[in-house]
Amino acid sequence: MSRRMYRSALVIGGIVAAAALVGSTAASAAPGRPGEPRYGAGAEGAGDPYFPLAGNGGIDVLHYDLDLDYTPPAAEPAPLEGQLSGVATIELVATQDLDRFNLDLRGLTASSVVVGKKSMSFTQTDNELVITPRPKLKTGQSTTVVVTYGGTTTEPTDIEGALYGWVTTRDGAMVVSEPDGSATWFPVNDHPTDKATYSFEITVPEGLTAVANGVLAGSETAGGKTTWTWDAPDPMAAYLATATVGEFRLEQYTAANGTPIIDAIDVTRTPSQVAALALTGDMLSFFEERYGPYPFVSYGAIVDDDSVGYALETQTRSFFSRNASEGTVAHELAHQWMGDHVSPARWADIWLNEGWATYSSWIWLEHRGQSTAQARFQQVMNRAPGSSTWNTVVADPGPLGIFGTPVYDRGAATLHALRVKIGDTAFFDLATEWVARFGGGTATTADFIALAEEISGQDLADFFDVWVYQPPKPTAW
Ligand code: ARG
Ligand code: ZN
Repeated sequence: MSRRMYRSALVIGGIVAAAALVGSTAASAAPGRPGEPRYGAGAEGAGDPYFPLAGNGGIDVLHYDLDLDYTPPAAEPAPLEGQLSGVATIELVATQDLDRFNLDLRGLTASSVVVGKKSMSFTQTDNELVITPRPKLKTGQSTTVVVTYGGTTTEPTDIEGALYGWVTTRDGAMVVSEPDGSATWFPVNDHPTDKATYSFEITVPEGLTAVANGVLAGSETAGGKTTWTWDAPDPMAAYLATATVGEFRLEQYTAANGTPIIDAIDVTRTPSQVAALALTGDMLSFFEERYGPYPFVSYGAIVDDDSVGYALETQTRSFFSRNASEGTVAHELAHQWMGDHVSPARWADIWLNEGWATYSSWIWLEHRGQSTAQARFQQVMNRAPGSSTWNTVVADPGPLGIFGTPVYDRGAATLHALRVKIGDTAFFDLATEWVARFGGGTATTADFIALAEEISGQDLADFFDVWVYQPPKPTAW
Protein backbone atom coordinates (compact mmCIF):
# COMPACT_ATOMS: atom_id res chain seq x y z
CA MET A 1 0.00 0.00 0.00
CA SER A 2 1.77 3.17 -1.02
CA ARG A 3 -0.09 5.99 0.64
CA ARG A 4 1.89 8.98 -0.47
CA MET A 5 1.05 12.17 1.28
CA TYR A 6 0.31 15.60 -0.14
CA ARG A 7 3.84 16.91 -0.54
CA SER A 8 5.41 13.72 -1.89
CA ALA A 9 2.39 13.35 -4.18
CA LEU A 10 3.34 16.62 -5.88
CA VAL A 11 6.85 15.34 -6.48
CA ILE A 12 5.54 11.98 -7.70
CA GLY A 13 3.09 13.84 -9.92
CA GLY A 14 6.04 15.66 -11.48
CA ILE A 15 7.89 12.41 -12.15
CA VAL A 16 4.81 10.77 -13.62
CA ALA A 17 4.25 13.75 -15.92
CA ALA A 18 7.86 13.62 -17.12
CA ALA A 19 7.69 9.86 -17.63
CA ALA A 20 4.49 10.24 -19.65
CA LEU A 21 6.26 12.68 -21.96
CA VAL A 22 9.17 10.33 -22.52
CA GLY A 23 6.70 7.47 -22.96
CA SER A 24 4.71 9.21 -25.68
CA THR A 25 7.86 10.05 -27.66
CA ALA A 26 8.94 6.42 -27.48
CA ALA A 27 5.44 5.23 -28.38
CA SER A 28 5.35 7.24 -31.63
CA ALA A 29 8.54 5.51 -32.75
CA ALA A 30 7.55 2.02 -31.59
CA PRO A 31 4.96 -0.23 -33.21
CA GLY A 32 1.79 -1.01 -31.31
CA ARG A 33 -1.25 1.06 -30.55
CA PRO A 34 -1.25 3.73 -27.83
CA GLY A 35 -2.82 2.49 -24.63
CA GLU A 36 -1.70 -1.10 -25.22
CA PRO A 37 0.21 -2.67 -22.30
CA ARG A 38 3.97 -2.37 -22.52
CA TYR A 39 5.11 -5.35 -20.48
CA GLY A 40 8.44 -5.38 -18.75
CA ALA A 41 10.17 -6.61 -15.61
CA GLY A 42 9.65 -4.92 -12.25
CA ALA A 43 12.92 -3.55 -10.83
CA GLU A 44 14.88 -5.82 -8.48
CA GLY A 45 15.02 -3.06 -5.86
CA ALA A 46 12.80 -0.23 -4.62
CA GLY A 47 15.44 2.34 -5.59
CA ASP A 48 16.97 3.00 -2.17
CA PRO A 49 20.65 3.82 -2.70
CA TYR A 50 21.62 2.41 0.74
CA PHE A 51 20.10 -1.04 0.11
CA PRO A 52 19.76 -1.44 -3.66
CA LEU A 53 18.12 -4.88 -3.54
CA ALA A 54 15.66 -4.06 -0.74
CA GLY A 55 12.10 -3.88 -1.99
CA ASN A 56 11.06 -4.31 -5.58
CA GLY A 57 9.61 -2.30 -8.45
CA GLY A 58 6.27 -2.67 -10.21
CA ILE A 59 4.22 -3.97 -7.28
CA ASP A 60 2.25 -2.50 -4.41
CA VAL A 61 1.48 -5.06 -1.70
CA LEU A 62 -1.81 -4.54 0.15
CA HIS A 63 -1.78 -7.49 2.54
CA TYR A 64 0.46 -10.32 3.73
CA ASP A 65 -1.15 -13.37 5.30
CA LEU A 66 1.69 -15.40 6.83
CA ASP A 67 1.00 -18.97 7.80
CA LEU A 68 4.17 -20.16 9.55
CA ASP A 69 5.13 -23.44 11.16
CA TYR A 70 8.28 -23.29 13.28
CA THR A 71 10.32 -25.80 15.20
CA PRO A 72 13.06 -24.29 17.41
CA PRO A 73 16.44 -25.98 17.82
CA ALA A 74 16.64 -29.31 19.60
CA ALA A 75 18.18 -29.32 23.08
CA GLU A 76 21.66 -27.85 23.45
CA PRO A 77 24.44 -28.25 22.44
CA ALA A 78 22.79 -28.67 19.04
CA PRO A 79 23.50 -25.75 16.66
CA LEU A 80 21.14 -22.80 16.81
CA GLU A 81 19.10 -23.87 13.83
CA GLY A 82 15.34 -23.95 13.57
CA GLN A 83 13.01 -25.26 10.90
CA LEU A 84 10.59 -22.82 9.34
CA SER A 85 7.97 -23.58 6.75
CA GLY A 86 5.58 -20.97 5.50
CA VAL A 87 2.77 -20.18 3.15
CA ALA A 88 2.65 -16.46 2.35
CA THR A 89 -0.55 -15.25 0.69
CA ILE A 90 0.20 -11.83 -0.72
CA GLU A 91 -2.41 -9.50 -2.17
CA LEU A 92 -0.81 -7.01 -4.50
CA VAL A 93 -1.51 -4.56 -7.30
CA ALA A 94 0.71 -4.18 -10.36
CA THR A 95 1.97 -0.61 -10.69
CA GLN A 96 3.29 -1.22 -14.20
CA ASP A 97 2.61 -3.75 -16.96
CA LEU A 98 4.54 -6.78 -15.71
CA ASP A 99 5.80 -9.91 -17.41
CA ARG A 100 8.10 -10.50 -14.44
CA PHE A 101 8.42 -9.20 -10.89
CA ASN A 102 10.43 -9.94 -7.76
CA LEU A 103 9.88 -10.42 -4.07
CA ASP A 104 12.78 -10.40 -1.60
CA LEU A 105 13.57 -13.78 0.00
CA ARG A 106 16.92 -14.71 1.55
CA GLY A 107 18.16 -17.99 3.00
CA LEU A 108 14.88 -19.86 2.48
CA THR A 109 13.72 -21.88 -0.50
CA ALA A 110 10.43 -21.47 -2.33
CA SER A 111 8.80 -24.72 -3.45
CA SER A 112 5.80 -23.27 -5.26
CA VAL A 113 4.45 -19.95 -6.45
CA VAL A 114 0.80 -19.53 -7.41
CA VAL A 115 -0.42 -16.30 -9.01
CA GLY A 116 -4.17 -15.93 -9.30
CA LYS A 117 -4.74 -19.65 -8.60
CA LYS A 118 -2.29 -20.88 -11.29
CA SER A 119 1.16 -22.32 -10.61
CA MET A 120 3.89 -20.15 -12.07
CA SER A 121 7.50 -20.66 -12.95
CA PHE A 122 9.99 -18.84 -10.75
CA THR A 123 13.69 -18.68 -9.98
CA GLN A 124 15.66 -17.66 -6.90
CA THR A 125 18.90 -15.77 -6.44
CA ASP A 126 20.56 -14.86 -3.12
CA ASN A 127 18.06 -12.13 -2.26
CA GLU A 128 15.37 -12.34 -4.92
CA LEU A 129 12.44 -14.56 -5.79
CA VAL A 130 11.78 -13.88 -9.48
CA ILE A 131 8.22 -14.63 -10.59
CA THR A 132 6.97 -14.83 -14.17
CA PRO A 133 3.20 -14.31 -14.07
CA ARG A 134 1.08 -15.74 -16.91
CA PRO A 135 -1.15 -14.17 -17.96
CA LYS A 136 1.00 -11.08 -17.55
CA LEU A 137 -0.21 -8.39 -15.17
CA LYS A 138 -1.53 -5.05 -16.40
CA THR A 139 -1.04 -1.79 -14.51
CA GLY A 140 -3.65 -1.49 -11.77
CA GLN A 141 -4.49 -5.19 -11.83
CA SER A 142 -4.73 -6.83 -8.43
CA THR A 143 -3.87 -10.44 -7.84
CA THR A 144 -3.01 -12.89 -5.10
CA VAL A 145 0.41 -14.52 -4.96
CA VAL A 146 0.82 -17.61 -2.80
CA VAL A 147 4.39 -18.62 -2.03
CA THR A 148 5.11 -21.89 -0.25
CA TYR A 149 8.62 -21.83 1.20
CA GLY A 150 10.83 -22.92 4.03
CA GLY A 151 14.22 -23.98 5.28
CA THR A 152 16.65 -23.88 8.14
CA THR A 153 16.79 -20.71 10.20
CA THR A 154 20.10 -19.50 11.62
CA GLU A 155 21.33 -16.18 13.03
CA PRO A 156 21.32 -13.67 10.17
CA THR A 157 23.25 -10.41 10.45
CA ASP A 158 22.82 -6.97 8.91
CA ILE A 159 25.34 -4.93 6.92
CA GLU A 160 27.11 -4.04 10.19
CA GLY A 161 27.19 -7.60 11.50
CA ALA A 162 24.39 -7.09 14.07
CA LEU A 163 21.88 -9.91 14.51
CA TYR A 164 18.59 -9.24 12.75
CA GLY A 165 15.79 -10.92 10.83
CA TRP A 166 14.62 -14.33 12.00
CA VAL A 167 17.20 -14.86 14.75
CA THR A 168 17.06 -18.43 16.04
CA THR A 169 17.23 -18.76 19.83
CA ARG A 170 17.41 -21.73 22.22
CA ASP A 171 13.68 -21.53 22.92
CA GLY A 172 12.36 -19.95 19.74
CA ALA A 173 13.26 -16.92 17.67
CA MET A 174 13.72 -13.16 18.05
CA VAL A 175 12.30 -11.49 14.96
CA VAL A 176 13.46 -7.91 14.45
CA SER A 177 14.17 -6.90 10.87
CA GLU A 178 15.36 -3.30 10.58
CA PRO A 179 16.37 -2.30 7.99
CA ASP A 180 16.04 -5.12 5.42
CA GLY A 181 15.82 -8.37 7.39
CA SER A 182 12.20 -9.36 6.69
CA ALA A 183 13.37 -11.26 3.63
CA THR A 184 14.98 -13.76 6.04
CA TRP A 185 11.51 -14.98 7.05
CA PHE A 186 8.95 -14.24 4.34
CA PRO A 187 8.77 -13.24 0.68
CA VAL A 188 8.35 -9.49 0.84
CA ASN A 189 8.55 -6.11 -0.81
CA ASP A 190 11.07 -5.16 1.86
CA HIS A 191 11.05 -1.36 1.82
CA PRO A 192 9.09 1.11 4.00
CA THR A 193 7.59 2.79 0.93
CA ASP A 194 5.30 -0.23 0.51
CA LYS A 195 3.29 -0.54 3.72
CA ALA A 196 0.69 -3.30 3.97
CA THR A 197 -1.64 -4.90 6.49
CA TYR A 198 -0.74 -8.29 7.95
CA SER A 199 -2.27 -11.40 9.45
CA PHE A 200 -0.34 -14.25 11.06
CA GLU A 201 -1.03 -17.86 11.97
CA ILE A 202 2.09 -19.15 13.68
CA THR A 203 2.28 -22.78 14.70
CA VAL A 204 4.84 -23.72 17.35
CA PRO A 205 5.37 -26.65 19.75
CA GLU A 206 2.81 -26.64 22.56
CA GLY A 207 4.11 -24.64 25.53
CA LEU A 208 5.72 -21.94 23.39
CA THR A 209 4.08 -18.62 22.55
CA ALA A 210 4.29 -16.86 19.18
CA VAL A 211 3.91 -13.10 19.42
CA ALA A 212 3.19 -10.92 16.41
CA ASN A 213 1.89 -7.42 15.73
CA GLY A 214 -1.61 -6.11 16.37
CA VAL A 215 -4.26 -8.00 18.28
CA LEU A 216 -4.40 -11.63 19.37
CA ALA A 217 -7.26 -13.27 17.51
CA GLY A 218 -6.87 -16.61 19.29
CA SER A 219 -4.78 -19.69 19.89
CA GLU A 220 -5.59 -23.35 19.31
CA THR A 221 -3.74 -26.42 20.46
CA ALA A 222 -3.92 -29.79 18.74
CA GLY A 223 -1.52 -32.69 18.40
CA GLY A 224 1.20 -31.10 20.53
CA LYS A 225 1.26 -27.84 18.57
CA THR A 226 -0.31 -24.45 19.19
CA THR A 227 -1.33 -22.04 16.45
CA TRP A 228 -1.30 -18.38 17.44
CA THR A 229 -3.38 -16.03 15.28
CA TRP A 230 -2.66 -12.30 15.18
CA ASP A 231 -4.24 -9.53 13.15
CA ALA A 232 -2.37 -6.33 12.30
CA PRO A 233 -4.83 -4.09 10.44
CA ASP A 234 -2.70 -0.90 10.50
CA PRO A 235 -0.52 -0.41 7.40
CA MET A 236 2.99 -1.44 8.40
CA ALA A 237 6.49 -1.28 6.92
CA ALA A 238 7.95 -4.79 6.57
CA TYR A 239 10.88 -4.16 8.96
CA LEU A 240 8.38 -3.60 11.77
CA ALA A 241 6.71 -7.00 11.48
CA THR A 242 7.53 -9.64 14.09
CA ALA A 243 6.68 -13.23 14.86
CA THR A 244 8.80 -13.77 17.96
CA VAL A 245 8.66 -17.22 19.55
CA GLY A 246 9.61 -18.19 23.07
CA GLU A 247 8.50 -19.02 26.59
CA PHE A 248 6.38 -15.95 27.17
CA ARG A 249 3.75 -14.97 29.67
CA LEU A 250 1.12 -12.70 28.06
CA GLU A 251 -0.13 -9.80 30.18
CA GLN A 252 -3.17 -7.97 28.87
CA TYR A 253 -4.77 -4.76 30.10
CA THR A 254 -6.25 -1.50 28.81
CA ALA A 255 -4.24 1.72 29.16
CA ALA A 256 -5.82 4.94 30.47
CA ASN A 257 -6.16 6.27 26.91
CA GLY A 258 -8.16 3.15 25.92
CA THR A 259 -5.39 1.36 24.02
CA PRO A 260 -5.40 -2.42 24.58
CA ILE A 261 -1.97 -3.56 25.76
CA ILE A 262 -0.49 -7.03 25.35
CA ASP A 263 2.96 -7.50 26.86
CA ALA A 264 4.87 -10.73 26.25
CA ILE A 265 7.38 -11.28 29.03
CA ASP A 266 9.86 -14.14 28.90
CA VAL A 267 9.12 -16.34 31.91
CA THR A 268 12.69 -15.94 33.19
CA ARG A 269 12.47 -12.14 33.55
CA THR A 270 12.59 -10.68 37.06
CA PRO A 271 10.16 -7.91 38.09
CA SER A 272 12.91 -5.28 38.08
CA GLN A 273 13.86 -6.14 34.48
CA VAL A 274 10.40 -5.18 33.29
CA ALA A 275 9.31 -2.64 35.93
CA ALA A 276 9.43 0.31 33.50
CA LEU A 277 6.68 -1.28 31.40
CA ALA A 278 4.25 -0.20 34.13
CA LEU A 279 4.81 3.36 32.86
CA THR A 280 3.46 2.52 29.39
CA GLY A 281 0.00 3.96 30.06
CA ASP A 282 1.40 7.26 31.38
CA MET A 283 3.79 7.46 28.44
CA LEU A 284 0.97 6.87 25.95
CA SER A 285 -0.92 9.83 27.42
CA PHE A 286 2.24 11.96 27.53
CA PHE A 287 3.06 11.38 23.85
CA GLU A 288 -0.58 11.70 22.75
CA GLU A 289 -0.58 15.22 24.20
CA ARG A 290 2.46 16.10 22.11
CA TYR A 291 2.14 14.03 18.90
CA GLY A 292 -1.61 13.39 18.59
CA PRO A 293 -3.67 10.22 19.08
CA TYR A 294 -1.83 6.89 19.37
CA PRO A 295 -2.08 5.64 15.78
CA PHE A 296 -2.60 1.88 16.13
CA VAL A 297 -5.09 -0.74 17.40
CA SER A 298 -2.94 -1.95 20.26
CA TYR A 299 0.43 -1.73 21.94
CA GLY A 300 2.70 -3.80 24.17
CA ALA A 301 6.23 -5.06 24.65
CA ILE A 302 8.10 -8.26 24.03
CA VAL A 303 10.94 -8.81 26.51
CA ASP A 304 13.01 -11.84 25.51
CA ASP A 305 15.67 -13.62 27.56
CA ASP A 306 17.93 -13.76 24.51
CA SER A 307 19.49 -10.64 23.08
CA VAL A 308 20.14 -9.16 19.67
CA GLY A 309 21.89 -6.38 21.60
CA TYR A 310 19.26 -3.71 20.94
CA ALA A 311 15.56 -2.91 21.12
CA LEU A 312 13.27 -2.40 18.14
CA GLU A 313 10.05 -0.46 17.68
CA THR A 314 8.23 -3.45 16.10
CA GLN A 315 4.84 -1.95 15.26
CA THR A 316 2.33 -2.18 18.12
CA ARG A 317 4.68 -4.54 20.00
CA SER A 318 8.13 -3.14 20.76
CA PHE A 319 10.93 -5.65 21.25
CA PHE A 320 13.44 -5.49 24.12
CA SER A 321 16.58 -7.56 24.62
CA ARG A 322 16.70 -9.01 28.17
CA ASN A 323 15.36 -5.94 30.00
CA ALA A 324 13.28 -2.86 29.31
CA SER A 325 14.78 0.30 30.80
CA GLU A 326 12.64 3.41 31.20
CA GLY A 327 14.46 5.50 28.60
CA THR A 328 14.27 2.69 26.06
CA VAL A 329 10.59 2.01 26.81
CA ALA A 330 9.89 5.71 26.07
CA HIS A 331 12.11 5.61 22.96
CA GLU A 332 10.38 2.59 21.39
CA LEU A 333 6.90 3.86 22.27
CA ALA A 334 7.59 7.26 20.68
CA HIS A 335 8.74 5.44 17.53
CA GLN A 336 5.17 4.24 17.04
CA TRP A 337 4.34 7.79 15.91
CA MET A 338 7.82 8.69 14.69
CA GLY A 339 9.14 5.92 12.46
CA ASP A 340 6.25 3.47 12.40
CA HIS A 341 3.24 5.64 11.50
CA VAL A 342 5.44 8.17 9.66
CA SER A 343 8.24 6.10 8.14
CA PRO A 344 11.41 7.09 6.32
CA ALA A 345 10.97 7.31 2.55
CA ARG A 346 14.62 6.30 2.16
CA TRP A 347 17.00 4.87 4.76
CA ALA A 348 19.03 8.08 4.50
CA ASP A 349 16.12 9.79 6.32
CA ILE A 350 16.45 7.62 9.43
CA TRP A 351 17.39 10.55 11.69
CA LEU A 352 13.68 11.43 11.52
CA ASN A 353 13.04 8.12 13.33
CA GLU A 354 15.96 8.04 15.73
CA GLY A 355 16.24 11.77 16.40
CA TRP A 356 12.56 11.94 17.35
CA ALA A 357 12.63 8.76 19.44
CA THR A 358 15.76 9.89 21.29
CA TYR A 359 14.35 13.36 21.85
CA SER A 360 11.10 11.81 23.07
CA SER A 361 12.96 9.92 25.77
CA TRP A 362 14.75 13.16 26.75
CA ILE A 363 11.46 14.98 27.30
CA TRP A 364 9.88 11.99 29.06
CA LEU A 365 12.81 11.71 31.47
CA GLU A 366 12.68 15.47 32.09
CA HIS A 367 8.96 15.09 32.87
CA ARG A 368 9.96 12.41 35.40
CA GLY A 369 12.33 14.79 37.16
CA GLN A 370 15.59 13.48 35.70
CA SER A 371 17.96 15.67 33.67
CA THR A 372 16.36 18.20 31.40
CA ALA A 373 16.33 18.08 27.61
CA GLN A 374 18.44 21.25 27.73
CA ALA A 375 21.07 19.49 29.87
CA ARG A 376 21.15 16.49 27.51
CA PHE A 377 21.47 18.86 24.55
CA GLN A 378 24.41 20.51 26.31
CA GLN A 379 26.05 17.12 26.88
CA VAL A 380 25.91 16.44 23.15
CA MET A 381 27.32 19.91 22.40
CA ASN A 382 30.17 19.26 24.85
CA ARG A 383 31.44 16.30 22.84
CA ALA A 384 35.08 16.49 21.80
CA PRO A 385 35.94 18.09 18.44
CA GLY A 386 37.06 14.71 17.05
CA SER A 387 33.76 12.98 17.91
CA SER A 388 31.81 11.26 15.12
CA THR A 389 28.95 13.56 16.15
CA TRP A 390 30.83 16.34 14.36
CA ASN A 391 31.81 14.56 11.18
CA THR A 392 28.53 13.03 10.01
CA VAL A 393 25.87 14.27 7.62
CA VAL A 394 22.88 13.44 9.83
CA ALA A 395 20.45 13.42 6.90
CA ASP A 396 22.69 11.11 4.84
CA PRO A 397 24.82 9.05 7.23
CA GLY A 398 25.56 6.24 4.76
CA PRO A 399 24.33 2.63 5.04
CA LEU A 400 26.86 1.84 7.79
CA GLY A 401 25.87 4.96 9.73
CA ILE A 402 22.11 4.52 10.02
CA PHE A 403 22.31 3.30 13.63
CA GLY A 404 25.28 5.46 14.57
CA THR A 405 25.37 7.81 17.55
CA PRO A 406 25.19 10.99 15.42
CA VAL A 407 21.85 9.89 13.91
CA TYR A 408 20.42 9.41 17.42
CA ASP A 409 22.05 12.12 19.50
CA ARG A 410 22.76 14.87 16.99
CA GLY A 411 19.31 14.06 15.55
CA ALA A 412 17.78 14.72 18.98
CA ALA A 413 19.95 17.82 19.49
CA THR A 414 18.71 19.12 16.12
CA LEU A 415 15.12 18.82 17.33
CA HIS A 416 15.95 20.52 20.62
CA ALA A 417 17.67 23.41 18.82
CA LEU A 418 14.67 23.66 16.50
CA ARG A 419 12.30 23.79 19.48
CA VAL A 420 14.28 26.62 21.06
CA LYS A 421 14.38 28.47 17.72
CA ILE A 422 10.68 28.25 16.78
CA GLY A 423 9.17 28.03 20.28
CA ASP A 424 7.25 25.30 22.08
CA THR A 425 3.90 25.98 20.44
CA ALA A 426 5.18 25.81 16.86
CA PHE A 427 7.43 22.85 17.72
CA PHE A 428 4.68 20.63 19.11
CA ASP A 429 2.23 21.80 16.42
CA LEU A 430 4.86 20.68 13.95
CA ALA A 431 5.15 17.27 15.64
CA THR A 432 1.37 16.78 15.60
CA GLU A 433 0.94 17.96 12.02
CA TRP A 434 3.87 15.81 10.87
CA VAL A 435 2.09 12.72 12.17
CA ALA A 436 -1.35 13.85 10.92
CA ARG A 437 -0.13 14.68 7.44
CA PHE A 438 2.32 11.86 6.75
CA GLY A 439 0.97 9.14 9.06
CA GLY A 440 0.27 5.84 7.31
CA GLY A 441 2.95 6.64 4.74
CA THR A 442 6.50 7.84 4.41
CA ALA A 443 8.25 11.20 4.36
CA THR A 444 11.66 12.71 3.68
CA THR A 445 13.92 15.22 5.37
CA ALA A 446 12.85 17.76 2.73
CA ASP A 447 9.20 17.14 3.73
CA PHE A 448 10.13 17.81 7.35
CA ILE A 449 11.96 21.03 6.60
CA ALA A 450 9.11 22.29 4.42
CA LEU A 451 6.55 21.55 7.16
CA ALA A 452 8.72 23.18 9.84
CA GLU A 453 8.92 26.32 7.69
CA GLU A 454 5.19 26.23 7.00
CA ILE A 455 4.22 25.88 10.67
CA SER A 456 6.80 28.30 12.09
CA GLY A 457 6.63 30.85 9.28
CA GLN A 458 10.43 31.01 9.42
CA ASP A 459 13.06 30.42 6.76
CA LEU A 460 14.90 27.41 8.20
CA ALA A 461 17.24 26.62 5.31
CA ASP A 462 20.39 27.73 7.16
CA PHE A 463 19.27 26.04 10.37
CA PHE A 464 18.88 22.61 8.72
CA ASP A 465 21.94 23.15 6.59
CA VAL A 466 24.25 23.38 9.63
CA TRP A 467 22.38 20.77 11.67
CA VAL A 468 21.67 17.93 9.22
CA TYR A 469 23.41 18.62 5.90
CA GLN A 470 26.89 19.77 6.96
CA PRO A 471 29.14 17.52 9.04
CA PRO A 472 30.87 20.07 11.35
CA LYS A 473 29.58 21.05 14.76
CA PRO A 474 26.98 23.83 14.33
CA THR A 475 28.19 27.11 15.83
CA ALA A 476 25.41 29.49 14.77
CA TRP A 477 21.86 28.75 13.57
N1 ARG B 1 15.60 1.24 15.62
C1 ARG B 1 16.17 0.54 16.74
C2 ARG B 1 16.11 1.51 17.90
O1 ARG B 1 16.58 2.60 17.83
C3 ARG B 1 17.56 0.07 16.49
C4 ARG B 1 17.68 -1.00 15.47
C5 ARG B 1 19.09 -1.47 15.27
N2 ARG B 1 19.09 -2.43 14.21
C6 ARG B 1 20.16 -3.02 13.71
N3 ARG B 1 19.99 -3.84 12.69
N4 ARG B 1 21.34 -2.78 14.17
O2 ARG B 1 15.55 1.26 18.90
ZN1 ZN C 1 15.20 4.04 17.85
